Amino acid sequence: MEKAIVIYSKTGNTLGVANRLAEKMNIEVLEVKAASDDPNVMNPVLTYVPDVSSYKHLIFASPVHGFSLSKVMQTYLNQLPDLNGKTADIFITHFFPFAWMGGNRTLKQMKQILENKNVKVNQMTSVNWKSKKRESVIDQMILSYSK
Ligand SMILES: Cc1cc2nc3c(=O)[nH]c(=O)nc-3n(C[C@H](O)[C@H](O)[C@H](O)COP(=O)(O)O)c2cc1C
Repeated sequence: MEKAIVIYSKTGNTLGVANRLAEKMNIEVLEVKAASDDPNVMNPVLTYVPDVSSYKHLIFASPVHGFSLSKVMQTYLNQLPDLNGKTADIFITHFFPFAWMGGNRTLKQMKQILENKNVKVNQMTSVNWKSKKRESVIDQMILSYSK
């Protein structure tokens, strides 16, 4: 399998979306795990660190915590080696009503870290959990990420 989805999910929203995408693409979801899911832990200790070396294309996803990328996903992305030659799509889930309340910033943060690892980031999607358009945003994302 050339592709995989790498996520962190504390309460299951990001995992649920990732599972739907994985089913459509017939690929695996690799879940980053930490010793504690307390979002206030500044330097989380990772207990499962997915190895992405064998994949050409990755989809990374995380929840927004405190207007930012979750610390667990941030720690995971920062410890990745150089991934020159790989491509990625990313998505985040969040629940505040406006994109500027964390969604946009979190996507930018993820993109920046991945670009520092020489990953070419293509598509980015913000899934607002409270939005009436949530299902159509997810469906649209699944369509375009699975092409
Ligand atoms: C500690 C904490 C902080 C959060 N901070 C934000 C935030 O700043 N902006 C936002 O839109 N949602 C925020 N949320 C909501 C989550 O991003 C949202 O529920 C997300 O879908 C959870 O994903 P998960 O179920 O995969 O963990 C926060 C949730 C938690 C638990």
